[in-house]
This record gives sequence, C-alpha cells and structure tokens, in this order.
Amino acid sequence: MAALFTPLALKSVTLRNRVVVSPMCQYSSDDGMATDWHLVHLGSRAVGGAGLVIDEATAVSPEGRISHGDAGIWSDAHVEPLARVNRFIEQHGAVAGLQIGHAGRKASAQRPWEGDQHLGPNEKPWPILGPSALAFGAYLPVAPKAMTKEEIARVRGDFAAAARRALAADVRFLELHFAHGYLAHEFFSPLANQRTDEYGGSFENRCRFLVETFDAVRAAWPEHLPLAVRLSVTDWIEGGVTVEESIELLRKLKARGLDLIDVSQGFITPDISKIPWGPGFMVPTTARIRREVGLPCGAGWMISEPAAAEAIIAEGHADVVILAREMLKDAYWPFHAAKALKVDKPQALLPIQYAHWLKR
Ligand SMILES: Cc1cc2nc3c(=O)[nH]c(=O)nc-3n(C[C@H](O)[C@H](O)[C@H](O)COP(=O)(O)O)c2cc1C
Repeated sequence: MAALFTPLALKSVTLRNRVVVSPMCQYSSDDGMATDWHLVHLGSRAVGGAGLVIDEATAVSPEGRISHGDAGIWSDAHVEPLARVNRFIEQHGAVAGLQIGHAGRKASAQRPWEGDQHLGPNEKPWPILGPSALAFGAYLPVAPKAMTKEEIARVRGDFAAAARRALAADVRFLELHFAHGYLAHEFFSPLANQRTDEYGGSFENRCRFLVETFDAVRAAWPEHLPLAVRLSVTDWIEGGVTVEESIELLRKLKARGLDLIDVSQGFITPDISKIPWGPGFMVPTTARIRREVGLPCGAGWMISEPAAAEAIIAEGHADVVILAREMLKDAYWPFHAAKALKVDKPQALLPIQYAHWLKR
C-alpha cells in the first residue's frame, strides 16, 4: 500500500489520502464572494481525488485583499456561496479547507495578469496597513500605514469572525496565512517590522500579533476541528526570519492548540535571490520542523513526481504533500499518482460517474 494513499486523522476529520491542494488565489471573486469559477476549479480537484482541498487566501476584511478579485469572508453574505463550493467538495470525498488571511502591505494591488502593481488613483485603491511604514518595494512601492493598537485589535477580531463564518460555510479544516510576506509574516519578520512597542523588536514582541491572532481564532474555531498555520519559516535573507525562530514560534502555537504546520518560505521582500529552488527543496526543513516541533506537517514547493511524494510520506519527512502548480496542470494528479504507484483500484478515488467506466 502506498503511504501517500493512507488516510490521515486530524482531530475529528479524516483525510482519505495525503494529497492536499494548496491554497491558490484565483482573483475571480465577486466582491469577495465565491463564484461558479470556484465551484468548478475547487470541485474538479475534489473530483480528481485529493484528500484535502484548501481554498485560496480569503480576506478577513476588505482591506485585507491583495486585489479587487480576491476571495473574502468579512460578511455573512460570503457564507452561502462558499458553503455551496464546500458541499460539492465534501460530496466528492475530499475535506473542504479554507485559508484566511490579511495581505498587509501587499494589499491594494492589481491582479497578477493586470500588472501586479499597487493600484493607482483611478483603480479604486484602499488604505494599506502594515506593522511599520515600510514598503515592500519593487512593484509594490506604497508604504503601508503603521497600524495602531486599535487597528491590530480590529484585525484580530476580523480573524475570529472569519473563523466563525468559515464554520457556518461548512469548512472543516482552517488555515491561517502567516506566510509569503503578508500581514502576519510582516509582524514576525524584522525586515518588515520595526515597531518599538510590544508588537516589535524582541522575538517575543514580533510573535505577539501571530500568537494573539491564533488564540482569537482557536477560541472561535471548534476544538474538534483542525487548525493549521502556513508559516514562511525562513526569509532566506540576512536579518530576516530564521528556521530556529520559526521553530520557537511553532512550539508556542503547538501549546495553544495548533494541529498542523503548512511549511512554506520566503517573499517578505522582492529579494528571492537566495531561495535554493529545486525539486522538493523545502522537504529537509519540513522534516526538521516536524521532528523538533512534534506536530503533523505539510511539505510543499516543487513536488511533482508521484514517487517523490510517496517517499516524502513513507520516509516520515511530512504527513501530507501540499501541491499547487501541479494541481493546476492536472486536477487528476491524485488519480494519476495512485495509478503510477500501483494502488489497487485507483479509479475508486473518482466519482462513480467516471469510475464505473474505468475498471482497468
Ligand atoms: C496561482 C497561485 C496562487 C497562489 N495563491 C496562494 C494563496 O492564496 N495562499 C498561499 O498561501 N499560497 C498561494 N500560492 C502559493 C502556493 O500555494 C504554493 O505554496 C506554491 O505555489 C509552491 O507550491 P508548488 O511548487 O506546488 O506550486 C499560490 C500559488 C499559485 C501558483
């Protein structure tokens, strides 16, 4: 039996296998609402056999969006369109996941295919928030407004409200976006946070926004459902976040009820020159975090081949593999991987409408 196709229990939720669809912004929402695009895009990946489908970074407030097309969950009106997608995902045997986040100083930008720059004055921009008035730079040159403590408290409350709405939308796996240079990562990284109050400076202070936000969400999210964090565990830049600091932060979150770590990396500044791109380049770090923090971990980044994914799980480097671009190329990646790994009856991953005709 391939390890990749063994179930995984996380609290009261069981994934049918270890293949996870990574959250991927589609920039295709209508005022934050899920559309038919999400039903087809996410629904196809559930039909393709994934164990868990994590819906894209979904903004906890309108200002927390990257672009006008981002998904959001800042009002009760967002619940039903998302619930429709989630019901379909679950009907096809996958667990419905959601990533919630706030884009911080990367907010108020064009969709990637419309330029990726901060919105200009005629493009309905909105106020940009961050820990400090430091711009990301390059194509995102606008410096955010340094958040007041009231604004920090409001965003924390927005995360908790988002978690409650996610539950109402039948989400069963919730992930906090603490990665990729967005708001939470900005608080954690000295490269974006130069505050002199209790939210900046020392390691403890740089953790505070993340820990408080985690606590607010954990209190709003049922104990029996898994709560994950996606963390950029290294900035790959001198003076930025290190794996050692990330392990300390993750141990704190573990003590406060974290259930799974989605190990990611980078993107706090435009400088990506030190990222050691290559197949599975984050796997050794993921294995270290899994060992040193002692929680289930997801490995991502440049995992393509079924045999490589199988080895990651079989050799105990991670508990799930989290695939993004491969899933864009092939919504049936799990089915094709099951065939490649000679899993008995791989067609059983597919709905009966297909499986019935694919007995061989
Ligand atoms: C189209 C696209 C949208 C993405 N949107 C998100 C997102 O919403 N949240 C997130 O944490 N990462 C996002 N990412 C990053 C992916 O989830 C993933 O971490 C990254 O692409 C590396 O995995 P891969 O090598 O399998 O593509 C996005 C990536 C792509 C290609």
